[in-house]
Amino acid sequence: MSMTAAVPIGPTTLYGPLPVALVAVYDAERGRTNLSTVAWTGVAATKPPQLTLSLKPERLTTELLGRERRLTLLPVTRELVTTADFCGTVSGREVDKFAECGLEPVPLAGRREAIPAGAPIAVLCSCERDFDLGSHRLFILRVDDVLLAPELVDPDGAAAPARAGLVGWLHGAYHALGEPLGFFGSSRARPAIYRRRMAKLRQRTRIEKASKKR
Ligand SMILES: Cc1cc2nc3c(=O)[nH]c(=O)nc-3n(C[C@H](O)[C@H](O)[C@H](O)COP(=O)(O)O)c2cc1C
Repeated sequence: MSMTAAVPIGPTTLYGPLPVALVAVYDAERGRTNLSTVAWTGVAATKPPQLTLSLKPERLTTELLGRERRLTLLPVTRELVTTADFCGTVSGREVDKFAECGLEPVPLAGRREAIPAGAPIAVLCSCERDFDLGSHRLFILRVDDVLLAPELVDPDGAAAPARAGLVGWLHGAYHALGEPLGFFGSSRARPAIYRRRMAKLRQRTRIEKASKKR
């Protein structure tokens, strides 16, 4: 179906899909890591690698990040959707979200925040600058390191995050990332290269589906 944008619906934040991530920040007052859920993140720069994160001022996460200046982002997988939804609808001021969700905290070397067992991607960040945007506070995050589950690292050392079964956020709902449609430069690749690269991409997706059945 061919569709062209024509109906004005007014200035809204309808934009996406956006990645859904859990945010782990250490809560020194309560002596535990707090988890919350975010969709308003982005990649801002590569050298050094920097991300953006927009948080409402009233979140416990905003208060904690203002003090700790360190957090870990955990992209959400199909298996983590229910956890992410819960962590995104209840404040750590009221509940211990690790305990409430039955999550096992896994310590990170050299950091105070823990990550939940079963989160296959962890993006360890430090916060250097933040800005008041009115409804939200914009944090600029520097990526200190990225940890991957061994299952997401190919024998040649290449990262294969698509195998994690990641989830996107669009207009108030969670959606699974679907089939691969192309790769960087696929529009200009020679036919033989295109076929080989696409076959490899599809194989990676099959591995993800096969591992889900177990
Ligand atoms: C899918 C999803 C995405 C969300 N994205 C954001 C976000 O980008 N920024 C934000 O401030 N709150 C966001 N929220 C809301 C917070 O996660 C929620 O208010 C949470 O309870 C805050 O917990 P805390 O008080 O423990 O920090 C999101 C919630 C959900 C379910």
